Amino acid sequence: MSNRLNAVPNDLSAFWMPFTSNRQFKQSPRMLVSAKDMHYTASDGRKILDGTAGLWCVNAGHCRPKITEAIQQQAAELDYAPAFQMGHPIAFEFANRLVDMAPKGLDHVFFTNSGSESVETALKIALAYQRVAGQGSRTRLIGRERGYHGVNFGGISVGGIVGNRKMFGTLLTGVDHIPHTHQPGKNAFTRGEPEHGAELADEFERIITLHDASTIAALIVEPVAGSTGVLIPPKGYLKRLREICDKHGILLIFDEVITGFGRLGAPFAADYFGVIPDIMVTAKGVTNGVIPMGAVFVKKEIHDAFMTGPEHLIEFAHGYTYSGNPIAAAAGLATLETYKEEGLLTRGEELAPYWEDALHSLKGEPHVIDIRNIGLIGAVELEPIAGQPTKRAFSAFLKAYERGALIRTTGDIIAMSPPLIITKGQINELIDHVREVLRMID
Ligand SMILES: Cc1ncc(COP(=O)(O)O)c(C=O)c1O
Repeated sequence: MSNRLNAVPNDLSAFWMPFTSNRQFKQSPRMLVSAKDMHYTASDGRKILDGTAGLWCVNAGHCRPKITEAIQQQAAELDYAPAFQMGHPIAFEFANRLVDMAPKGLDHVFFTNSGSESVETALKIALAYQRVAGQGSRTRLIGRERGYHGVNFGGISVGGIVGNRKMFGTLLTGVDHIPHTHQPGKNAFTRGEPEHGAELADEFERIITLHDASTIAALIVEPVAGSTGVLIPPKGYLKRLREICDKHGILLIFDEVITGFGRLGAPFAADYFGVIPDIMVTAKGVTNGVIPMGAVFVKKEIHDAFMTGPEHLIEFAHGYTYSGNPIAAAAGLATLETYKEEGLLTRGEELAPYWEDALHSLKGEPHVIDIRNIGLIGAVELEPIAGQPTKRAFSAFLKAYERGALIRTTGDIIAMSPPLIITKGQINELIDHVREVLRMID
């Protein structure tokens, strides 16, 4: 660990950093060189409290011994094996374990390497399923305004964040969007699920009337929209979407890339809200963020619909070189064991009331126009500086880092999603950092 401490590379120009203001960063870099449990260590030796579980992924905290050892052992035993027309036991074992813990009925898993790839996989399964099920006219995909489904073409097409879409041409055709559910006028400072807005689900009916159900393959939504700034579904909203999908034979896809693996205090958002999708997209927490991996869960009926025709033929022409990679599967198995041993998939339920109170204690601090929370997710929305959107929240992010806390900002919203091992004391510490920062920034 110590050999990298203080070691800032002398040239930062080659690495074009993702979703980063590269010029700002390279003028004053923020380098993390090691991590343990709830903390990073920065290159200047400071401990940084991780208020974001990395990028919503390190749910069990950092450098957990069981996961590290599993990766080391697997790398020494079977580093790589193809998953096309070949198998290796650990991928099957991991798939079985995942299916055992998944919401009822989601009993097959397709492995990918990221949330974005999981989204593409889910969309392709949905389209192909409709075709093999004799519903080939169902080619439209419906997403939601302000949705985030990764950065590949399918994901940005069904996604609804303008900045992620506008530079990239016309995207997929045949896509439409239902309205987002953010209604600050009615729901500001709501604790948990907002009272108002379930009726927004009925806008889906309007879109179905416009296109006709026979043209629509699937609806994809995040149960809780994360990257757009934490938009929590109004009470009853997701159930209503499920009913509309059922009524019209449309598949419901939940993108659980951030809500999966305990973030809401239940294993999945589907469990938390009691709404089971037909396809469930996951990544991030599936391996505690340690090795890239994603897993797409599908219902038996969908999987089985593909299992027809001559047996020597490939049933679904899709997959990645690293689908079910042995080291990722080993990391995943050890991650699930860690979650289970420490009760992390439901720990959020216990901590949520404390988290909620701490977060809402920021009401009345400078610039705060809304606070939202669910499970171990929290958002503090700031009044933007006139004519300079995002600047205020970015200043908050920089100041928090200077003070020793990692938070995340999107637009003028501060989003927090700490590892599920956080203590009450560390919740206080994190929120106090944010409070101080709000008092410091313009
Ligand atoms: C809901 C959702 N879907 C998809 C993704 C994309 O995941 P990845 O960055 O692993 O491609 C993310 C990432 O934050 C996400 O929050």
